[in-house]
Amino acid sequence: MLIAGLDVGGTATKAVLVTESEIKGFADVSASDSVSSAMGALGKLILESGVGVDELASIALTGGGANRLPNRLLGVRAEKIDEIEAIGVGGCYLSGRDRAAVVSIGTGTAVVGAWGEGACMRVEHLGGTAVGGGTLAGLGRLILGKSSVDSVLEMAREGDLTRVDLTVGDIVGRGVGMLPPDATASNFGKVGDWTRPVDVAAGIVNLVGQVVGTVAVLAARAAELEDSIVLVGRLAEEELVAKTVIHTVELFGGRAVVPENATYATAIGAARRLLARVTFPSGRG
Ligand SMILES: Nc1ncnc2c1ncn2[C@@H]1O[C@H](COP(=O)(O)OP(=O)(O)OP(=O)(O)O)[C@@H](O)[C@H]1O
Ligand SMILES: [Mg+2]
Repeated sequence: MLIAGLDVGGTATKAVLVTESEIKGFADVSASDSVSSAMGALGKLILESGVGVDELASIALTGGGANRLPNRLLGVRAEKIDEIEAIGVGGCYLSGRDRAAVVSIGTGTAVVGAWGEGACMRVEHLGGTAVGGGTLAGLGRLILGKSSVDSVLEMAREGDLTRVDLTVGDIVGRGVGMLPPDATASNFGKVGDWTRPVDVAAGIVNLVGQVVGTVAVLAARAAELEDSIVLVGRLAEEELVAKTVIHTVELFGGRAVVPENATYATAIGAARRLLARVTFPSGRG
């Protein structure tokens, strides 16, 4: 059975084609309007994978923009899947875990607990933060005048955090409690005449990554899942962001990984959730 999953997010729509045993295609489209971005992503997916619309059994719709879409797209039945469920199921499926705290780092950040053999069908919203990719994009625009996230990230790779952030060592001269001397004590706490635009970019990425990592590990710990944190969403695939989040999680005694195709986790989770519902209509999914 072939199912399309569409994740209509705050920044981009991600689309996937899945069967019971594999993922057959990926597409994504950025657009502020949910209808055009969903139709665009679905069209791209179908064209690029060479599959006919009539071969689709169903479409799973999730993400913030899903509620604005009708119950049929291109003549195919479209079902809405709760985004929290889609994040949990998708993160577990991609990481091969049967228990995980799945952290979706998109425009904003959500932390979802997920449990259950096979595809983690039991999920719980554990927490989150409004700091995420939208924050990185907005601060980059405001402070650095950069309209693309890619250029902020490129600048950040050239930046030096010791010219923006105050460390624990800067203040105390040594480590404190669980924190080593090089841990950040205050984001942007060392800004001065020595701070260059590339350092500011590094500071923005560090701020976002550290907030996400801290919220993720604390929310995960409350559900005893801090040893199995799975990072998904488009920002999880940006190496600099992922490194910062993982380092922060480890500082607080947790473990985090980024599975392959992390950008598409929510779309995949929605499709797999619907697949389980169609395959086991009497409640196993
Ligand atoms: N080339 C790019 N173009 C746009 N955004 C990018 C790019 N590279 C990285 N990003 C980051 O990805 C973020 C969006 O990630 P993602 O597509 O996972 O979010 P979303 O699903 O649209 O949002 P949410 O899940 O919060 O509704 C942007 O806010 C931006 O920071
Ligand atoms: Mg999303």
